[in-house]
Amino acid sequence: MKWWQNAVIYQIYPRSFKDSNGDGIGDILGIISRLDYLEELGIDAIWLSPVYASPNDDNGYDISDYQAIHPDFGTMADMDRLIEEAKSRDIRIVMDLVVNHTSDEHQWFVEAKKSKDNAYRDYYVWRDPVKGGPPNDLTSTFSGSAWEYDEKTKQYYLHLFSKKQPDLNWENEAVRQAVYDMMNFWLDKGIGGFRMDVIDLIGKIPDEGVTGNGPKLHEYLKEMHQETLKGRDVMTVGETWGATPETAKLYSDPEREELSMVFQFEHMQLDEQPGGMKWDLKELDLTELKKVLSKWQVELKDSGWNSLFWNNHDLPRIVSRFGNDTTYRVESAKLFAILLHLMKGTPYIYQGEEIGMTNRKIESIDEVDDIESINMYTERLEKGYSKDELIHAINTKGRDNARTPMQWSGEDQAGFTTGTPWLPVQSNYKDINVEAALSNKDSIFYMYKKLIQLRKDDPLIVWGDYELLLPGHSSIFAYKRSYQGRTWLVAANMSEQEERLELDEDEKTAKVIASNYEKEEIDLERAILQPFEAFAVELSK
Ligand code: NOJ
Repeated sequence: MKWWQNAVIYQIYPRSFKDSNGDGIGDILGIISRLDYLEELGIDAIWLSPVYASPNDDNGYDISDYQAIHPDFGTMADMDRLIEEAKSRDIRIVMDLVVNHTSDEHQWFVEAKKSKDNAYRDYYVWRDPVKGGPPNDLTSTFSGSAWEYDEKTKQYYLHLFSKKQPDLNWENEAVRQAVYDMMNFWLDKGIGGFRMDVIDLIGKIPDEGVTGNGPKLHEYLKEMHQETLKGRDVMTVGETWGATPETAKLYSDPEREELSMVFQFEHMQLDEQPGGMKWDLKELDLTELKKVLSKWQVELKDSGWNSLFWNNHDLPRIVSRFGNDTTYRVESAKLFAILLHLMKGTPYIYQGEEIGMTNRKIESIDEVDDIESINMYTERLEKGYSKDELIHAINTKGRDNARTPMQWSGEDQAGFTTGTPWLPVQSNYKDINVEAALSNKDSIFYMYKKLIQLRKDDPLIVWGDYELLLPGHSSIFAYKRSYQGRTWLVAANMSEQEERLELDEDEKTAKVIASNYEKEEIDLERAILQPFEAFAVELSK
C-alpha cells in the first residue's frame, strides 16, 4: 500500500489560513503555528496552494519565480522550516505545481516578449494575427479572448486564463526540461508531492481549438514521471476538469507511471445548466449526484485511484451549496463528511470545512476580490444581465466564498490577523471558529477527526467494494461498502424532511460507527431519518 491510499489531505489556501505578522495576509509562519492543530485533526499531508513569487493577478496561480517564496508569505528558510516541522508531525507538504502557464512577469516571458528571435520566445505560444484579429475564437476561462496582442512584436500570445497568465509551450523540450528541473528542486527538499494545476491543458493544440486532453498529454506526463517522480515516495494529484473514468484510469493506473490520482469535477458541475458555464445556475438533482459519485466509485474499483472532495479554493462551500448553512448547518456539514469519507479514494478537506465554515454573501461587486467573478460580471453586464442576477450567481458560485479568512476564535478578526484582513472575515465567526469546535466534543471537527482515524483503522474503507442503494430516491443517499465478509451501510437524508429508510436488509438493528444524531444503534426495520441525518453502521451477518 502507498502512504496516500489511507491518507487524508488538508488543503491550505495560505492567504487566508493564519497571519503571523499583522499584514492581513496569511503566511508560512502562520501555518507553522497551526501544525499542532492539524496534527490533532489527524491529517497526513497538506496541499499548499501557491506560495511562490507572484504579482497576484490570480492570487498566486500566476507565478513569476517557481523557486522563490512571495515575501507576503515569508522566505525560503520559512518554507524549509515548514517542511521540517510538518515532517516531525508526520505531515507531508504537497506543493501546487502551476505549469500550464506562468505569470507575464516571469523572466521567461519578460525575455520572450523582447523579440521574435529571443531565446525564450518559443517558451510560449505565439501566433500571427488572422484577418487583423486573433488567430481563432478560443476564449479564456476568465472571460474574453484567449489571445492577447503584443504591439511590439505584432503577434498574439495564448492565455487560457488571465492575460497575465501566458500559456507555456509544452511542445518545446526546453520548457519541459526547465519544469522538471524545478520540480526536482522541490522534491529534493523532501516535499510529499504535487497537486498539478489544470494539468490536462498542457497537451493543447490551440490551432485546432483543442485545450483539454490533447494528444500528447500522456506522453508528457510519462516523461515527467521518469524525469522527476520515479523512485520517490511522493503523491501527485492532477486537476483535470474534463476527466472521465476512462481518462482518469490513464492518469492513475500505476502501471502507466503518470500520476497517483486526479481531481474529477463531474459532481461539481451538476448544479449548472447543461452546456452552460458555472454561472448558469440549476438546482441539484440528488439522483444525479448519487449516480455520478457512484459511477466513479465503481469504475475505478480495480485500476486507478479516486480523489474525494466537496470543496476547494475555486468552489463554494458544500454546506452552503448542497446542504443547509442555517438551521441544519452542523448536521449537514457532518453529513457531507460521513458520505465522502467512507468512500474509496483519498479524501481532501479544504481549510474551514472541518468547522463548517459557510459561503460569504456580498451585496455589490465592489466587495469582490476574485478576477474570475469580476471579469464575468463586467462581461455579462454588457450583455444585458441584471446586477441582481449576477450578484446572486457570485454569491452562489464565486470563488471568494471559500477564500474568507480561517475562523480561529471569537476574538477580533476571528484570530486570523491582528491587522486588516485582505478579504473580510465572515460575521458568523463568533459562533463558527476553531476554538469553539475544539471545546465541544460533538463538533463537526471531531466528526472529521473520527472519520480520518477510521480510515487508518479499517481497511474496509480503503479497499472495500462499493454499491449504491436506492438509486432513484430523491432525498436519501445510501450505499454499502463490503470487504472480506464484512459490510457497512452508509445512509444520509439530504432533505429538511424526515424520510423513511426502506432497505431489503435482513438485519433488524445495527451498531453505529458514525452518526450525526448521536445514535448508538439503528433499528433498520423502522429507520426514520431526521433532516440531514447521516449514519454509518456495520451490518452483522
Ligand atoms: C486552477 C486553480 O485552482 C485556480 O485557482 C486558478 O485560477 C486556475 N487553475 C489557473 O491557474
